[in-house]
Amino acid sequence: MAGRVVALPAQAAVLLFFFASVSESTGPRSREIRGASRIPSQFSEEERVTIKEALKGAIQIPTVSFSPEESNTTALTEFGEYIRQAFPTVFRSSLIRHEVVEEYSHLFTVRGSDSSLQPYMLMAHTDVVPASEEGWEVPPFSGLERDGFIHGRGTLDNKNSVMAILQALELLLIRKYTPKRSFFIALGHDEEVYGTKGAQKISALLQSRGVRLAFLVDEGSFILEDFIPKLKKPVAMISVVEKGALDLMLQVNMTPGHSSAPPKETSIGILSAAISRLEQTPMPNMFGRGPLKKTLSLLANEFSFPTNIVLRNLWLFRPIVSRLMERNHITNALVRTTTALTMFNAGIKVNVIPPLAQATINFRIHPSQTVHEVLEHVKSIMADDRIELRVLRSAEPLPISPSDAQAFGYQLLQQTVQSVFPEVNIVVPGICIANTDSRYYANLTNGIYLFNPLFLQPQDFRSIHGVNERISVQNYQNQVKFIFELIQNADTYTEPAPHLHEL
Ligand SMILES: *[C@@H]1O[C@H](CO)[C@@H](O)[C@H](O)[C@H]1NC(C)=O
Ligand SMILES: *[C@@H]1O[C@H](CO)[C@@H](O)[C@H](O)[C@H]1NC(C)=O
Repeated sequence: MAGRVVALPAQAAVLLFFFASVSESTGPRSREIRGASRIPSQFSEEERVTIKEALKGAIQIPTVSFSPEESNTTALTEFGEYIRQAFPTVFRSSLIRHEVVEEYSHLFTVRGSDSSLQPYMLMAHTDVVPASEEGWEVPPFSGLERDGFIHGRGTLDNKNSVMAILQALELLLIRKYTPKRSFFIALGHDEEVYGTKGAQKISALLQSRGVRLAFLVDEGSFILEDFIPKLKKPVAMISVVEKGALDLMLQVNMTPGHSSAPPKETSIGILSAAISRLEQTPMPNMFGRGPLKKTLSLLANEFSFPTNIVLRNLWLFRPIVSRLMERNHITNALVRTTTALTMFNAGIKVNVIPPLAQATINFRIHPSQTVHEVLEHVKSIMADDRIELRVLRSAEPLPISPSDAQAFGYQLLQQTVQSVFPEVNIVVPGICIANTDSRYYANLTNGIYLFNPLFLQPQDFRSIHGVNERISVQNYQNQVKFIFELIQNADTYTEPAPHLHEL
């Protein structure tokens, strides 16, 4: 997951997920997935050992993305060889076409027996963020197992998914499973540094082939445990939307001068005044637009008095809830486009008035706004045309993917959660405030779901991009089981009859 807050304080994380994960499961639970000849997701003792050892080996290869220009390409090459060796059946299968994209990314096309069914896609990324050994209990690229956990960079973000997807497919193929519905597996190699070489190129390739996907599943959210105050039950959050982003450079260029006779206004003064106005004037609160309001009111039933009453009656309490969300900087990020001043540069010498002052601002755009709208807001707040704006990078928020009873991808994930994890009975759509590779695939499908089938606690959440990232062996084996089931469910799912309104 790219651009994640590194060390989120526990309370903030709690609040984030209280409001990020919202709405009760929408689909009817009773709809069974009917399978003709299902292969049970039971693995032998020997297979269980192979499964975890394969992940440890993957962690030991330091596929680090240092910057968009610099990654450990030796490790990326080694990783490509590693998956060939770990999953020989996948690479030998006549049903599967494997392609290397931009030298290090991988695209697998798994040909299903029924070409009338629309394909789907499973995604993950092979690169990781850097990790120095400082603060780690075990070296970050050791892949050591201790107390039932496999430790190391990438165990949660996101080699677990890379390995679990290929592992599940390997195990299905060994059991002679033939998929009915075709699917793709896309493994990008530069997700942590914007994904322009991996995901963007894979997407372009698929678009050039005229591929349309029923849905796709990428990283982005989890089954959350102990994140939500007063809610003891685990909540599976499937994110249905991702915020956009805008990196904007502001620049003021004035004539240089000597500090002994300064002009009335300097580039530094003009720029700081404008920047200060921006910081003091937050972007509009969009609570009530996007999935948040609906999902909050649906989650209401899980709470006791008075939270349930408040959440159930947002028509009345909306202004209060909306204000409350603004109070905390994390929940604030869910209701509006955020403005973060991240760089400021001017001046080189103590007695010279510098001609140039520059600042960079990182905006994370709410799903109900566009890059253009944010730019217009910025201009009107600054109200000073001596300030030049330069867009360094921008990404529109993803459209909101459907989560209703007819939404195939969402329903499939929900039903697979309920069958693999019977203890989880709350499945909710959410908002992802970080960015993932999935944004490059919006042209291919309107069903983009961000979900990792892992139980996650607040301390695990902080380890992603932080120290002591680890995954329990149990959690990882369940992820393999989940994908093993998901692939079969995608073949046997029967879409519900459309709901008919009485006239
Ligand atoms: C890059 O990866 C290789 C292993 O593939 C490793 O030996 C080397 O130390 C890594 N380089 C850096 C700078 O991390
Ligand atoms: C989506 O399709 C449009 C029109 O063909 C194209 O201009 C755009 O670059 C595509 N976007 C992505 C992310 O591939």
